[in-house]
Amino acid sequence: MTIRSSIKVQKINMEFIKVTENARPYVALIQLNRPKELNALNLQLMGEIRDTLKKLDENDEVRVVVITGNERAFAAGADIKQMAGKTAIDMLNIDQFSTWDQIRKTKKPIIAAVSGFALGGGCELAMTCDMIIASETAKFGQPEIKIGTMPGAGGTQRLTKALGKAKAMELVLTGDFLSAEDACSYGLVNRVVPVELYLEEAFRLAAKIAAMSPVGVKLAKESINRSYETHLDEGLHFERKNFYLTFASEDQKEGMNAFIEKRRPDFKGN
Ligand code: HXC
Repeated sequence: MTIRSSIKVQKINMEFIKVTENARPYVALIQLNRPKELNALNLQLMGEIRDTLKKLDENDEVRVVVITGNERAFAAGADIKQMAGKTAIDMLNIDQFSTWDQIRKTKKPIIAAVSGFALGGGCELAMTCDMIIASETAKFGQPEIKIGTMPGAGGTQRLTKALGKAKAMELVLTGDFLSAEDACSYGLVNRVVPVELYLEEAFRLAAKIAAMSPVGVKLAKESINRSYETHLDEGLHFERKNFYLTFASEDQKEGMNAFIEKRRPDFKGN
């Protein structure tokens, strides 16, 4: 690989993400940038990630992508305020998962550099990436159950594959968080490093991969994903329908409104 220290760093700021096309030689960085909302993933932010990844996939100067948040939060989930009042049919029509599907189809490897909260859609976004480098402060979880819904962007599928049925069931049904250390021991993340090093470590891993044959890397990624993707497609479809169905319940309205109003939810089972 040639050293290109004289090349100007290409930065593009969108409304909710910051993109550096050449954060390191052949390595692009996407930083989620809604810090006050703990990087809650609204529809526009997800669209920005999708459009950026598509461009980076077509850019020969990019071989690996790193996605990160900030020290406090990778992302605390899908934007509850945007979803709270939606009906099941609204959710079906919004069809946000076509965006997630396009992100999932990115050909170049994506590394999530996670510090702080990676919850709900945030955990699902990290798991949609190909590898995860975690800071020791990272907390993973699928707490949707606490707001009257369930994971919708692959959590029930990918967490189960990563952790096994018993632990995935416990996390999804209680909403409890998994520490970085435990996530690493289960194989959900590649490694855990001190908080001041998590982004550097992600860049180090990215640089190592960027020095390999881009063709080989692309084909190897595709092949590894193939090992479970046929089942994943069906599983994601099933999960989505059930996720939409929770929006037909009073419990989902109660759970999300309770979060917004900063009070405990009173679930009635209807
Ligand atoms: C919208 C959110 C948010 C979210 C945090 N905020 N998470 N807004 N959607 N997912 C906002 C808060 O309302 C608050 O804004 C600000 O960010 C800071 O959050 P606090 O709660 O004050 O911080 P803290 O007390 O430190 O608690 C952190 C937290 C908590 C434990 C992460 O914020 C939390 O429980 N968040 C929700 C986690 C969650 O349920 N995620 C799953 C979402 S559903 P204000 O304006 O009040 O100061 C989901 C479905 C995915 O992800 C499937 C579809 C893609």
